[in-house]
Amino acid sequence: MAFKLAQIFFLVSLVLSTCFSITLSRPLDNELVMQKMHFDWMTKHGRVYADMKEQKNRYAVFKSNVERIELLNSMPAGRTYKLAVNQFADLTNDEFRSMHTGYKGVSSLSSQSQTKTTLFRYQNVSSGALPTSIDWRTKGAVTPIKDQGSCGCCWAFSVVAAIEGAAQIKKGKLISLSEQQLVDCDPNDYGCEGGLMDTAFAHIKATGGLTTESNYPYKGEDATCNSKKTSPKATTITGYEDVPANDESALMKAVAHQPVSVAIEGGGFAFQFYSSGVFSGECTTNLDHAVTAVGYGETTNGSKYWIIKNSWGTKWGESGYMRIQKDIKDKQGLCGLAMEASYPTI
Ligand SMILES: *[C@@H]1O[C@H](CO)[C@@H](O)[C@H](O)[C@H]1NC(C)=O
Ligand SMILES: *[C@@H]1O[C@H](CO)[C@@H](O)[C@H](O)[C@H]1NC(C)=O
Repeated sequence: MAFKLAQIFFLVSLVLSTCFSITLSRPLDNELVMQKMHFDWMTKHGRVYADMKEQKNRYAVFKSNVERIELLNSMPAGRTYKLAVNQFADLTNDEFRSMHTGYKGVSSLSSQSQTKTTLFRYQNVSSGALPTSIDWRTKGAVTPIKDQGSCGCCWAFSVVAAIEGAAQIKKGKLISLSEQQLVDCDPNDYGCEGGLMDTAFAHIKATGGLTTESNYPYKGEDATCNSKKTSPKATTITGYEDVPANDESALMKAVAHQPVSVAIEGGGFAFQFYSSGVFSGECTTNLDHAVTAVGYGETTNGSKYWIIKNSWGTKWGESGYMRIQKDIKDKQGLCGLAMEASYPTI
């Protein structure tokens, strides 16, 4: 009996020790792999932390992001897009949202919503007459991807890209225009604290246009308006028009004719780490970001998408662009992209 008990004890302890060796060594290996991944990532993105405490905190955020990215990427059923560990991998989603978006929304600039225009010049264009795909990049109407950095002025980038496109289509010449002029000099918006495309269009019309990017270069922070640098103007606009809200077919009519400024919910986790494919969520319709729709198309699998130009550098998404699902059931469009679209007139 005593022998048997000892034998059982031995077996139990063997099982326990085996379990322990597994539960101890596996996470330890993972932890080392993860730490190396973080160091490699820091090197790649030139990230330096102030002290060990910051390093530890950032590592915890990084690890949690990587684990969630891997989990989401491993659920392939119907998933048409991939996430990747990009330059935002040591930011919590809240930090990311506050640093890299910046769309104020009509409700927060409510006095402006009164002045919304109703004319939509493409109203009577027949949907059947539109091309099945268009990509303004291949037509020379889109400047290279820019990077707003940690200034919440997506609205300025969205407006500038739409004007650069409209000007190229009208005059045949692509000129990179100044976002910083808007950040510094547009009193109706809030620089790095956010803004709205329609108020920026109105400001540009009222002040005679935008100068070039090289004349008034991007700084990525709020600064005093240098009025001397706002001239010479490279392009002016005659006004702007709103695409009828919650109507992707109206948006298609507009994008078929020119790049269009689009508000979107771009602050979510999946958006933060989008890497490739046709984005199909997860996101809400709480508009917090602005981008520019520069085309649309359809994959060989028959998924329809919009091509949007973002302002987060070329390391995000498909070299700075996203393909995002088009013509969904919800009238507001995926991530609310059909809710508040507008374009400049030249
Ligand atoms: C498209 O279809 C092919 C073949 O069925 C498949 O391998 C691929 O993953 C699909 N791509 C997307 C984006 O759904
Ligand atoms: C569309 O057509 C209607 C009827 O002909 C016309 O009254 C309206 O002005 C047109 N709209 C635009 C934007 O051209």
